[in-house]
Amino acid sequence: MPGDLSVTSWRHLPAGEKDRVGALVEQFRKRFSRAPTFVALAPGRVNLIGEHTDYNGYPVLPAAMERHIAVAAAPRSDELVTAQATAPRFDLCTFSLRAPLQPASAGHWGNYVKAAAQLLLARRSDPRGADLLVDGTIPAGAGLSSSSALVVGAGLALLASAGISGLSRLSLAEEFAEAEQFVGTMSGGMDQACCLLAQEQCALRIDFFPLRVRPVSFPAGHHIVVCHSLVTAEKSGPARTAYNLRVWECRVAARVLAFLLNRLRPLSIDRLADLERHFPSVPRHSFVDLLADHIPDRPLSLDEIARVLKADVGTFLPERTKAPLPLDTPLSIVRRARHVFSEATRVELAEQALREGDLRTLHGAMRASHASCRDDYEVGCSELEALVKAATESGALGARLTGAGFGGCTVQLVQTEQLPEFFERIDQTFYAPRLPHQRCFADYRFAFRPSSGAKLVVID
Ligand code: GLA
Repeated sequence: MPGDLSVTSWRHLPAGEKDRVGALVEQFRKRFSRAPTFVALAPGRVNLIGEHTDYNGYPVLPAAMERHIAVAAAPRSDELVTAQATAPRFDLCTFSLRAPLQPASAGHWGNYVKAAAQLLLARRSDPRGADLLVDGTIPAGAGLSSSSALVVGAGLALLASAGISGLSRLSLAEEFAEAEQFVGTMSGGMDQACCLLAQEQCALRIDFFPLRVRPVSFPAGHHIVVCHSLVTAEKSGPARTAYNLRVWECRVAARVLAFLLNRLRPLSIDRLADLERHFPSVPRHSFVDLLADHIPDRPLSLDEIARVLKADVGTFLPERTKAPLPLDTPLSIVRRARHVFSEATRVELAEQALREGDLRTLHGAMRASHASCRDDYEVGCSELEALVKAATESGALGARLTGAGFGGCTVQLVQTEQLPEFFERIDQTFYAPRLPHQRCFADYRFAFRPSSGAKLVVID
């Protein structure tokens, strides 16, 4: 089982990380005229399979990347948090821990730091603040969870600066997932759990409510490859509405199913996975059949759904919703439920296949996941289609979109010895025609073996 978050001396870091931390410490010294006391390293993640299942209570299968958000921190004597980024496009963010935290405009990076500060405020009523310097190698808006890595990195740095240590990784993952809702996205807990609980050389099967993880060895002789579609999908910005709509649609689908299964006393169920717990004799695929038998597979407002079912609209209004949608929003509940239930089964299949080194089955599950994300969950786009095609033709296994979708990256598996050939082909077919003035595409596609979870480094 995962343990507590311990502190590592920077002297014991592997060479590459030591250099990065050393460079950040130097930059911190220059900007703040003193040394940081801690550096938090929080990895991004790539999800192999299990897309949009986490907030529905179904499992996911991600792996941590060798790319991080690094946050250097030193305590202050007052209650202010000042956060700077090494990249000049991010402006200075300063806030007081005494005043109630107010989000800045949607998409502002400081909102993630404020989200992180909630863990500190939950433990100290009058905490001292800290100076933070943030650096990162995870592309933003790429579906690789740079935002959750920022929340975890900033949060660990703030907690450590305040002298709070020895916290359980599992509880931190749950708390950071809850805290990130501050930015207004109703996301699940995959990103924070992977960031904190990942293990080297392993993918991580994560189950939710309650949070549980189990590592799955990643096969030797293969690398995970991530390719950027060149379409940015900032989950804190424009993609947020589309993401929250999917969450809302799933919750309504769960409510409708609870009603169809017991019209006299419908259960207040908001997560699709909870239906299986309450109705264990109903096979998973029958939920979709039941829904499709009663609700047309086209966008319908809540009013229309209530009329079709001859019931009161209130029966279908989800609870636990921080950002409810207007009642006349058209909802596609049949196809969303079809994706979620089928994706849950594909995660189980993929985990088993990965354990057995059955890459053919894994490939099939990942490709089916991509089709389901595109057709039933409608989170694809034409660039992702072109990229999946190019990757498959270049010899990759299981190419599929990864993360929330609406752009971002694809994930695929490539035999380690075929990596140079794969990159050459994907550069020729996908990147060179789209980026005619560029010669090197290494920033857009990269390979790695699964990495470990977040680290807290003491600068002693
Ligand atoms: C985002 C969210 C996750 C998850 C994925 C889709 O990354 O933060 O919680 O829902 O989208 O699988």
